[in-house]
Amino acid sequence: MLEVSPAAKRVLGVLPLFEDILGDLAARDQQLFRLRLARQFQNLYDGLEPLYGHRPDFETFLGRVVGKLAESYRDRPEALKTLDLERELSPDWFQLESMIGYVAYAERFAGTLAGVADKLDYLGELGVTYLHLMSVLRAREGENDGGYAVADYLAVEPALGTMRDLENLCATLRESGVSLCLDLVLNHCADTHAWAEAARAGDAHYQAYFYSYPDRAVPERFEATLPEVFPDLAPGNFTFVPAMKRWVWTTFNTYQWDLNYTNPEVFLEVVTILLGLANRGVEVFRLDAVAFMWKRLGTNSQNQPEVHMLLQALRACSRVAAPAVVHKAEAIVSPGDLVRYFGTGKHFGKVSNLAYHNSLMVQFWAALASRDTRLMTQVLRSFPPTPPGTAWATYVRCHDDIGWAVTDEDAAAVGLDGTAHRSFLSDYYAGLFAGSHAVGEIFAYNPETNDRRISGTLASLAGLEQALAQDDSYGVELSTERILLGYALMLGFGGIPLLYMGDELGLLNDYSFAEHPDTRDDNRWLHRPHMDWQAAEKRSRQGTLEARLFSGVKQLIAARCNTPQLHAGYQTEVLDVHPQLLVFVRPHPLGTLLALHNFSERTQVLALSALSAYTFTEATDRLSGETLTPQGGLLELPPYARLWLV
Ligand code: GLC
Repeated sequence: MLEVSPAAKRVLGVLPLFEDILGDLAARDQQLFRLRLARQFQNLYDGLEPLYGHRPDFETFLGRVVGKLAESYRDRPEALKTLDLERELSPDWFQLESMIGYVAYAERFAGTLAGVADKLDYLGELGVTYLHLMSVLRAREGENDGGYAVADYLAVEPALGTMRDLENLCATLRESGVSLCLDLVLNHCADTHAWAEAARAGDAHYQAYFYSYPDRAVPERFEATLPEVFPDLAPGNFTFVPAMKRWVWTTFNTYQWDLNYTNPEVFLEVVTILLGLANRGVEVFRLDAVAFMWKRLGTNSQNQPEVHMLLQALRACSRVAAPAVVHKAEAIVSPGDLVRYFGTGKHFGKVSNLAYHNSLMVQFWAALASRDTRLMTQVLRSFPPTPPGTAWATYVRCHDDIGWAVTDEDAAAVGLDGTAHRSFLSDYYAGLFAGSHAVGEIFAYNPETNDRRISGTLASLAGLEQALAQDDSYGVELSTERILLGYALMLGFGGIPLLYMGDELGLLNDYSFAEHPDTRDDNRWLHRPHMDWQAAEKRSRQGTLEARLFSGVKQLIAARCNTPQLHAGYQTEVLDVHPQLLVFVRPHPLGTLLALHNFSERTQVLALSALSAYTFTEATDRLSGETLTPQGGLLELPPYARLWLV
């Protein structure tokens, strides 16, 4: 029997609404809903009670939430209800070693949503099973933070198509075994969203959807401890809105208004939106900027405990009304805060299914620059295990900048000064450090903290742009190996690897953003190029760089899909054995996977005795298919080599 607390049981017992709503469904369908609700109600209740339980209308509110779940379930198309059952029968579907993610701006990849379906063959060549399309929902006109200022969550960006096109695309993808992931920007909406328009016009109901203040008194008190996300583009965290004569909370750009989750109506709106999109066929929700969803005076208003309650409640909702759906937390936060997005403590495993492994990405770039893996090893070894039933989203590049999320403590643990090291990394990737191979740009320079983040594509940051410009064939060789090292790491670490559009072909920085008024102030567009389909054509022409990279990536993917040790349900244990190598094991009943990566352009030698329990005399490399029998207890790794030994 499920354990339901007396309080939750009492509330569940008096919930009146859903029986009527489900009335016309077949008995078995009704029964399924009741079973799922009974299974998840405690999680929903525990998420919301601490936030809204003090309100006299709390029970009515819960009734409205459950009513909304019932309505969404009633309206869920049959094909998706079948998918719900399939997913409940294979709850590890998103943890499988065959999961391969691809991330693209819909428009930059294929023009329209219908166009995306035409690119299925290309995605199929890579074995893609998960497609994250960005900037799909109707965004604010003009500047819109690359689509992250949403003006209507239930409409498609007109240039891309319609909601019907989205539904069709989801169905086509589903038939091909590809899950569609969309962003759900829940920390803020555009200042042109209907809620913001109504608030601006003086509607008190909608003003309560946001945080706004008549003067600077409260904002100043918050500002004392708030960092700035875009210190140069959008300094400060509040924007004066003349029509309201109030200061509105705007963590990101001035036109992105933070939503106020102390108001339960906002939570209910988000549930409605999420389930509405789920019923169109969206299977994965990338919950954007979740760290910022709850504010607390005297703190940086990130990663507050209430965020995890909200996310637990939201996840419980989709598990009742659309169980095929999974949630991915986009929390680009320091290592100590990251694992909490899977759920720790009382939220264990209940918060999100997926979370970005920002630290892995940062440490990849840090180790490449320093040719030293000690910091990486230190950081990755300190990560607690992930709860069963969750998975990392691993990546080398995404559409955002790279921020050097390296703590002073971790740096000090390997004898580095945190400030100096972060500064070195920025210099290195902005090409300001003598001998750097990288071509990137500084993003979001903050003179107060001296923090400098980095923009640039995988290929340009890995050295390809510079090597090509200098006609340096050795440089091209090295940068190609660096790129493939990055792919090997993200494909082999455990979790869903997210390939960022164009990286598989080595697309370089795109400087054209500087010519357009809506993008010129934000150099993250440097690494958001249009897909180069001519370059893609060259992937089948032997001898081209594109063919080398694309086939290299394909080979890694094929190896991943044949390596059951890479199922995300197994843990990664990083070993501290060599200052230029990243070495980890993934113990598995079919044999432990031992992965080794050389982060330098020199051959490195590892004494196998350092591996203690994991040492071997013979092993198969899943990447090359070769059998290794190291001589004299030594293993030699050529420049940037990667081995997956079983
Ligand atoms: C996320 C997005 C980023 C955007 C920010 C604000 O971090 O990835 O592109 O600027 O949220 O919405």
